[in-house]
Amino acid sequence: MELNGGILSTVLEGVKRLAKPGVSTQELDRFAEDAIRQAGAVPAFKGYRGYQATLCTSINDEVVHGIPSKKRVLADGDILSVDIGLKKDGLFSDMAVTIPIGTVSDEILAFLRVSAESLEKAIEKAWPGNRLGDISHAVQSHVEGHGFSVVRDYVGHGIGYGLHEEPVVANFGKAGTGPRLQAGMVLAIEPMVNMGGYEVRSLKDGWTVVTVDGSLSAHFEHSVAVTESGPRVLTHHHPGPGKKGEAATA
Ligand code: MF3
Ligand code: CO
Repeated sequence: MELNGGILSTVLEGVKRLAKPGVSTQELDRFAEDAIRQAGAVPAFKGYRGYQATLCTSINDEVVHGIPSKKRVLADGDILSVDIGLKKDGLFSDMAVTIPIGTVSDEILAFLRVSAESLEKAIEKAWPGNRLGDISHAVQSHVEGHGFSVVRDYVGHGIGYGLHEEPVVANFGKAGTGPRLQAGMVLAIEPMVNMGGYEVRSLKDGWTVVTVDGSLSAHFEHSVAVTESGPRVLTHHHPGPGKKGEAATA
């Protein structure tokens, strides 16, 4: 799963480099599918419950499950959530990130930072003996402590031989509650954070989820193994040697 996660995060790095004003979300999707297939893997979302794309691309008030389209062209000041998954050798990998397009305000950058931090705080709780609620609470307390809200209607999940396995990993809850974490579990932890209220609704396309109040939404996800020596993030980018501009040769 760590090998697969390395591939996945490398593909996502490529998507991030391409995501500029003027680029359509369909172009990003094409790139991602090609790159995943070139690595000998298959897109995990394509065909899942009839979903037709490799990526979910959710812009601004779109929370998750935005469908890539040639009509959706990125504009300066947008924020774009990219969710990506693959399957290789029978094992799934799933991750997401929200990126600023062009120039966005400091207020929005702070919102993105807090959202990303909430995932990091959650990951820090992924130790054997801790409880699932410790992860949920870590997300919620960090997010709400900064005046933002966590989406209730969508959750993280176990991952491995299936894209969505038990348990449900909520982004809100009480510390010290829920099942105990054990070494060998792998969790896709994925806070969805709204700048305004937590309520969301689905659009008529049957997929796209948006905030009810129109506020911005961010999404960060890693696949994380619980090990005896603590949390191990499986969806990390391992830059190859000699790549220009990347700290790979140290
Ligand atoms: N990445 C999503 C998740 O974390 C799954 C996307 S749903 C799909 O659960 F239908 F688009 F695949
Ligand atoms: Co997921």
